[in-house]
Formats: sequence, structure tokens, C-alpha cells
Amino acid sequence: MNRSVPIANSSFSFISHLKCPACGTRYEVDLVQTVCRVGECGSTLYAKYNLPSGLSAKELLKGRPANMWRYHEFLPVLQGECVVSLGEGFTPILSMKHLSKLTDGLSVIWKDESGNPTGSFKARGLSGAVSKAHELGIKHIATPTAGNAGGALAAYCARAGIHAHVYMPKQTPKVFKDECRLYGAEVIEVDGNIADCGKRADTDAREKGWFLVSTLKEPYRLEGKKTMGYEIAEQLGWKLPDVILYPTGGGTGLLGIWKAFDELEQLGWIDSRRPKMVAVQSESCKGIVEAFHSGKETAVYQDNGFTMANGLRVPKPYADRLILQVLRQSGGTAIAVADDDMEKALKEIAANEGLLFAPEGAALWAAFKRLHASQWFSEGQTVLLLNTGSGYKYLENLSI
Ligand SMILES: Cc1ncc(COP(=O)(O)O)c(C=O)c1O
Ligand SMILES: [Zn+2]
Repeated sequence: MNRSVPIANSSFSFISHLKCPACGTRYEVDLVQTVCRVGECGSTLYAKYNLPSGLSAKELLKGRPANMWRYHEFLPVLQGECVVSLGEGFTPILSMKHLSKLTDGLSVIWKDESGNPTGSFKARGLSGAVSKAHELGIKHIATPTAGNAGGALAAYCARAGIHAHVYMPKQTPKVFKDECRLYGAEVIEVDGNIADCGKRADTDAREKGWFLVSTLKEPYRLEGKKTMGYEIAEQLGWKLPDVILYPTGGGTGLLGIWKAFDELEQLGWIDSRRPKMVAVQSESCKGIVEAFHSGKETAVYQDNGFTMANGLRVPKPYADRLILQVLRQSGGTAIAVADDDMEKALKEIAANEGLLFAPEGAALWAAFKRLHASQWFSEGQTVLLLNTGSGYKYLENLSI
């Protein structure tokens, strides 16, 4: 493969190399990379940075724009002019006004990702991955998607002048397909779930020489999503919450947030305390929940059919092993929510708080209430729920 960017000692990014978290192999950042190529390893690769201690967060971030690129030293793009941004990130952290009566003894806050470009946190991951692909000179990108990642890929590719090819289950609400087409992407509707989309995308990408950005099969969507961890820390005055609930499909955000906390500790911006990480799944696909509670290291493929939370219909996350490690290391847990409860939660939040969350995000409220009822939390804890997207694209699946 040709080197398309210099092995720059860039001051824009402190990235040094990529590393396999499973076998430790090192990879270069000036080449196109996917997953670990050693034998059968195949692990997601993690970007590594030269993180100087003694750097003041206050000084560094002072006056920076309120988007995720304010942390550009800790993102993988070496040349600032290659960044493809639509203003993603720096989303608000909100407390509840009326529903706080149900959270007695706890402080419950939401990080609300619904205001991102294309209406979900997928904007962060795709801003990261498309920017890096742009820097590496890539002209065609393909992805399997439950919906939101496709819209984000299409928008960032349009901005970058890259062709996007989006593989989406036929069953996905029409609006997700329409937005991709409006952004100029090719939409391939697949009769099946996201795993079937993945197989089709894989074959086509291989045949046509397209770059595939399947969840955690390339290193940089994770980097974009980790900025949620940076923001949570910065917005809470560098003091992390006690618990974070995260709606887990492929798990990119959960791993990204966890990675961010390690980097922030190396920078000396936070201490060694970590939140308990809670993976919330749908009853449709709850392989992580089952593996977690039965002490297994990986999840078994599972698809029990339709869920209105398209993003949670992931039969077997590619990085299941890493997700389970984080849940256990953090002292967290995993819990599954049925569609009826998700819909009730979504309506309760909308009517009481004026927030129309995606069902994936609303699922966290149902999960929170169950965990609270079982006294899983300790008195006085701060619990952060991560609403990953806007509810507007999901209306056709709600009974109103
Ligand atoms: C709104 C929403 N929430 C959560 C997820 C799951 O994200 P992750 O792959 O990071 O687990 C998705 C993925 O499609 C999504 O669209
Ligand atoms: Zn490896």
C-alpha cells in the first residue's frame, strides 16, 4: 500500500501508532488499516497517542470551538485541513425536571446526543473515520448500518467528496433510507438483519476495492466516539459520574468512552476512579447480557426479531470480548429491555421533559428504573444516561 500521508510529527494530532489490544502488534497510522492481521487475531485496533503529562486542560482547550475537534490532539487526523466536520459534539448534559421524583437518593443526568448532525451520536464516529479516510485519499466507503450510521456516513462523505455505499435492512423505517439518498449515497436494501448487511457489504467492498467502515473493523469510528468520554469529563469539571448507562449495539461508544478515560488519566486530567459501565440491550439481541451473567468471555449470535430500537439489533457485536471486559473491569452490569417498556419510557420522557429520544436512548430510562427498584445503585450516586439519538426518525414505529 502506498503511503498517502507523511509520518508526520504533527502538532495537530499526538497520534503515534495503532496497537492490537489482544496481541500487542503495532501498526502504522500513515497506511490504511482495518483489524489486526496476525493469524486469526482479527481484533479491533486501538489508536495510541503520545500523551504528555503536565499539559493544562484549561490552557489547551481555552477558546476552542464547542465541537468534538476541540480535542484534535487526541484524534487521529494529522493534517487539520483534512478534518470533515459538520459541527458534531459538545452536546449538552441535562438533568430531569419532573421525572427526578422517580430517582430519589440519586442524581440522574442525561448526555443528549440528539442535536448532532444527522440526529445521532453516529456523527462523531463518522466524522472521525471519514476525516481519516479523506486524509488517506480514499474515494469510496461502504458500511452496513441499522440506520443512523448510514445517514451519518452519507452526510460526511457528501461533505468530503467521497462516494458512500450504505447497506441497510429492508425493514428499517423509510426516513433512514431517504436521508442517505438525499446525501447522495447509494443505498442497498438487504433482506435480513445487520449481520446479513455486513456480509453483503464485505463481499462488495472486497470486489470493488471500497473501504469498509463496519463497526469496530476499522480504528477511527471509535476515536470519534471516544470524544463523548472527553466531554463527559470536561463538562462535569473533570469528575466522572459513578455510573454510565449505554445502549449497546456494536458497543463502539462504550469502548470509546472507556478508552477516553484511560487517556485522560495519562494526561493527569482525571484520577484513577472509573464509573461502573452498564450495557443496555434490547430483548431482540441480548447476547452481551447473557454472556455477562453466565460468566462467558464472548457472546453467542442471537436475533429474536424486530425491535423499534434498530441500533440495538446487533446479533453478535464484533468486539463482544472487549465490551465484556469493560463491563467486568468497571464493576458494571448488563440488562435487556423489551420494546413495550422502551416505548413507555420514550413517551414518559417526551411528555414530562420535552425530550424526544431515540428508542435506544429511552431504553436506558426503563433499565434505570429496574436497576433502581432492585437497589443496584448506592445512595448519593451520580448516574449518567447517554441518549444516543433523536426520536424523530422512528415515529413510524410508535403507536401515537
Ligand atoms: C441511536 C442509536 N443508539 C445506539 C446504537 C448502538 O451503538 P453502538 O454500535 O455504539 O453500540 C445505535 C447504532 O446504530 C444507534 O443508532
Ligand atoms: Zn492482534
